[in-house]
Amino acid sequence: MKKISILGLGYVGLCTAVSFASKRFKIIGVDVNSEKVKMINEGKAPIYESGLDELLKRSVDSQMLHCAEDCGYAVRNSGISFITVGTPYRPDVSIDLKYVKSVAKSVGNALKNKEEYHMVVVKSTVLPGTTEKIVIPIIEKHSGKRCGLAFDVCYNPEFLREGSAIKDILNPDRIIIGEFSRQSGDRLESLYRDFYENKLPPVIRTNPSTAELIKYVNNCFLAMKISFMNTIANICQEIPEADVTTVAKAIGLDRRISPLFLNPGLGYGGSCLPKDIRALVSFSQKLGYKPSLLKAVEEVNILQPYKVVRLANRLLGKIRGKRIAVLGLAFKPNTDDLRDAVSIEVVKGLLKENAEVVVYDPAAIKNAEKLFKDKVRYASTALECVSDADCCIIVTEWPEFKALKCEDFIRRMRTPVVIDGRRIYDPEEFSRKLIFAAIGLGVL
Ligand code: UGA
Repeated sequence: MKKISILGLGYVGLCTAVSFASKRFKIIGVDVNSEKVKMINEGKAPIYESGLDELLKRSVDSQMLHCAEDCGYAVRNSGISFITVGTPYRPDVSIDLKYVKSVAKSVGNALKNKEEYHMVVVKSTVLPGTTEKIVIPIIEKHSGKRCGLAFDVCYNPEFLREGSAIKDILNPDRIIIGEFSRQSGDRLESLYRDFYENKLPPVIRTNPSTAELIKYVNNCFLAMKISFMNTIANICQEIPEADVTTVAKAIGLDRRISPLFLNPGLGYGGSCLPKDIRALVSFSQKLGYKPSLLKAVEEVNILQPYKVVRLANRLLGKIRGKRIAVLGLAFKPNTDDLRDAVSIEVVKGLLKENAEVVVYDPAAIKNAEKLFKDKVRYASTALECVSDADCCIIVTEWPEFKALKCEDFIRRMRTPVVIDGRRIYDPEEFSRKLIFAAIGLGVL
């Protein structure tokens, strides 16, 4: 069996590597970070992801996965390479391709002296045109070989979600193949046919630019659903007794809409949705088209975290000097990831009003300490966090917060004021027993 190399061991790379390894594909993982390579080779996961620890350990123990720092070695010793490096955005919102370019150069250099045919699959999120106008020319330049002859390239976006990454890789809704040539698409489809055995998901084959665009459009559509529901939540809040969760449930039953991604809250965060929407807006503007709808999606999201700060002000009179407990910091449950998390804006907003902020998160405290330093206090349990607080704000919907009862707040807080930023509590019960406000819940 041909070996596979995975170039870049971030979320996508590492989860792809262990998923292939779990199906007995021999994998060489590559990363420039020597500490990360060492950790993975010891079977320890450098990121927090459900199911990863166990699968990684099994992959390393069974020698299906081995990692190195040398990209050339990995390319020479494999038949197919996945490029899974990050594409962060620069302050001017353009996509930073430095990692993609550098790995393409290493692939090219390695292919110079390789006799056998090699297949390159770009998985990193890149703007339309990047694979054909940037990646392929770099590989051709450094290898001295032509794409379509000595090697081939496909663009193959990844749709995994943090927190369910491995499950998503093993059961994707579809596979998108942006092929440079029919031969390259056939080869990649055949690899996936082996991987999924008799359960190959629907495959859409197209050109690389369309495939690159699909990745952005998918995330932008999800972001649009969230900002749409948050807009409706903000309207509901002004209508006595209206409740956005019932509205979401009702419209979600329309099969044309679907119930997924209609949860109102404080907005979307994470390393993908915010970045991708910004990138598509700026890409489109450069092409001469102003994407008003996408800009509105982003604007709604920027303002949404402050809704809970305003609610706190409304319920407490003013929040200066008041102790506010923030439950949840990660950008969503089951991750320790704080990248573009809405909690950052919530905490900033509270500190700006001179509130005393105490925070708790089941997984993200270590990352939060690096970010907020001594500007906030860190609790080691949810109950400790709410103790003696004047107000508690739910920012991330971790299951352990859902399990809290009204009495947990009433017994411990100085004043039992709860603001549900993620709609995890029963408004009827909470409104009856304590002072309660929630995103998208109209007040009398
Ligand atoms: C997202 C996409 O869902 C993946 O398909 C994609 O592969 C990934 O980005 C990527 O481009 O790498 P992820 O960033 O892991 O995945 O997170 P999501 O589960 O999409 O959640 C994003 C944000 O939206 C979170 O802050 C979450 O709290 C928020 N959200 C989600 C809502 O506010 N309401 C919802 O109904 C759903």
